[in-house]
Amino acid sequence: PVLVVDFGAQYAQLIARRVREANVYSEIVPHSMSAADMLAKDPAGVILSGGPSSVYADGAPSIDPALFEAGVPVMGICYGFQAMAQAMGGTVAQTGLREYGRTQATVSEPGTALAGSPGVQEVWMSHGDSVQSAPEGFTVLATTEGAPVAAFENLEARMCGVQWHPEVKHSPLGQAAIENFLYNVAGIQPDWTSANVIDEQVERIRAQVGSARVICGLSGGVDSAVAAAIVQKAVGDQLTCVFVDHGLLREGEAEQVERDYVAATGVRLVVADERERFLEALDGVTDPETKRKIIGREFIRAFEAAERDIVAAAPEGEPVRFLVQGTLYPDVVESGGGEGAANIKSHHNVGGLPEDLEFELVEPLRTLFKDEVRAVGAELGLPEDMVWRQPFPGPGLGIRIIGAVTEERLEILRRADAIARDELTKAGLDRDIWQCPVVLLADVRSVGVQGDGRTYGHPVVLRPVSSEDAMTADWTRVPYETLAHISNRITNEVAEVNRVVLDVTSKPPGTIEWE
Ligand code: XMP
Repeated sequence: PVLVVDFGAQYAQLIARRVREANVYSEIVPHSMSAADMLAKDPAGVILSGGPSSVYADGAPSIDPALFEAGVPVMGICYGFQAMAQAMGGTVAQTGLREYGRTQATVSEPGTALAGSPGVQEVWMSHGDSVQSAPEGFTVLATTEGAPVAAFENLEARMCGVQWHPEVKHSPLGQAAIENFLYNVAGIQPDWTSANVIDEQVERIRAQVGSARVICGLSGGVDSAVAAAIVQKAVGDQLTCVFVDHGLLREGEAEQVERDYVAATGVRLVVADERERFLEALDGVTDPETKRKIIGREFIRAFEAAERDIVAAAPEGEPVRFLVQGTLYPDVVESGGGEGAANIKSHHNVGGLPEDLEFELVEPLRTLFKDEVRAVGAELGLPEDMVWRQPFPGPGLGIRIIGAVTEERLEILRRADAIARDELTKAGLDRDIWQCPVVLLADVRSVGVQGDGRTYGHPVVLRPVSSEDAMTADWTRVPYETLAHISNRITNEVAEVNRVVLDVTSKPPGTIEWE
């Protein structure tokens, strides 16, 4: 792999993604990992990420110099660039000059690392200190107003670095710089593809599972659908999928899973109709966290019941020893790197199962980002609208009704949501929008007028967001025309709703869902 050393800022995931976009496998490791442990992973290259603003700051993380002596190709980015310069004998100064945002870099000599660059390129900067002189053996490639040494390379040592952030889209030639490092400085072959991922996982799953039975909870979402499809490819008939209909689904969702997924994969599917169980458990509950915990708990109960049924139906079969989970790489990184990360919401993954559940986990997507999961799904031949489905939370409409959940309120929300989805699809916005929760403010009423009469109905909120990974998001600038269509249709077609409002809050400070 290419190791991306995380210095604690938000950049490491982005860099890892860009490396994979270049068809090279990458893994994120914490900066506290020793050089020996990094080298034990036999890295094809190492990228040092951005991080705190100053190598002189108290407790600024440093890099084990042994890493630079091992002959592994290294690229330094921003803080990583400075740390590399310092470790190799260059000088880094606290000039007090800060460069932040769009900056012009003058490329005096593109060399290999900046090959293809024009004389001046636009780059995204965020730094205080700057490298004053390059280490011996390094060629200076670029400068900016605030950084006399803004990029350098040493081809013999297979090292290079840039002061700017090539991983962000505001550096238009950033991907080219990353690819120059990977292909030309480090000499890595771009052979990480969806097809390879599938082959590798299939082999791994067969070795792990043997002849035991496996179950997988399908939620209708991309992750569990793709995870199940890979496992099915690996062990076929040993897999049973369980789809829990908790009654908090959107219009047509249960039918879509039953019909389309089975048609595409031929998988054995058990549908558990648990609508009553969930509605009863949620009766009168308004607190968001309580709702989430109840839904999580009932999921487990429903799942256990389904598993008992599976075993009862074929008691002579092999034991059910494995449970498939659609865990993604960001989940792994975040739970591994979490130094007391605040619990903002209890995200229950459908599989947020308790310790004492006696299953071993099969997690074929553990190394993948969401866009890669989609590519793998497409490669496996899953239907396009399933592969490109927008995220939908496990607790479903239960956390989009602000107030207590009732069957009647669910029905109102389901109708409004179906209209919004329909219009956004018609407007061709599905891929620009990460997801668009529709939220029913069930305990709020406002006065309206319709057909000469007074109405006293509920508002619904449209929450269209754009995002790369749901960690941060911005509200999507949906065209007014489309918003007008949605608003007209909802207020005309859903009698209980007399007002449609638009949420124009980014994340942070707002989360994507309202509860
Ligand atoms: P928030 O609301 O925290 O959501 O900004 C981030 C992303 O996660 C989804 N989400 C969930 N997904 N179980 C899930 O499987 C959950 O409990 C859950 N809560 C939020 C949300 O839709 C968004 O994509």
